[in-house]
Amino acid sequence: MNFKEKYSDFFETLHPNYWDEDRFVPAVGPEDADVMMIGEAPGANEVEEGEPFVGRAGERLNDILHDIDVDRDEIYITNLVKIRPPDNRDPKSDEIEAWAPLLEQEIENVEPDIIVTLGNFASKHMLDTSKGISKIHGRIFTREGQKIMPVYHPAATLYDRSKGPELEKDLRKAFGKEESGQKKFTDF
Ligand code: URA
Repeated sequence: MNFKEKYSDFFETLHPNYWDEDRFVPAVGPEDADVMMIGEAPGANEVEEGEPFVGRAGERLNDILHDIDVDRDEIYITNLVKIRPPDNRDPKSDEIEAWAPLLEQEIENVEPDIIVTLGNFASKHMLDTSKGISKIHGRIFTREGQKIMPVYHPAATLYDRSKGPELEKDLRKAFGKEESGQKKFTDF
């Protein structure tokens, strides 16, 4: 069963204004994943390949995951809005609201140990806050028993290099891969 079939109840009720077959990108990853990542919305590369985070931001994410020894294939990766916004603009609040019930169903289905929200849009939506990502990134919040960690969007680290180490540090924490600062016994 593909993504659209699995969540057919949602797709049957989605208002046509929010649907465009040619701009649609489903989530990817195992449904029993321990970690779920939520981005904003797909871009042109994602539409071309039919998968979230495969463009420049995705490459950045992959590099960091590689550096901290996490297998991307074990992560469930999705977006707030599953349709690429025209002209690469930010998703609008009515679009986020229209797609929110699907995201809720995905979370119920995957039941991740932790949700990592990538960037301001996903973080503000999931934590129902107006606080910016620079104030809240790297902290673990609990909402109705669900752990959520906001982190910088990988694309933000392309424009501001200083955010790269912050994103890496936060992802290490989310995946339990923190460096102890001490050499392991086996390193000697
Ligand atoms: N940025 C996002 O937020 N999501 C993607 O899928 C790609 C880039």
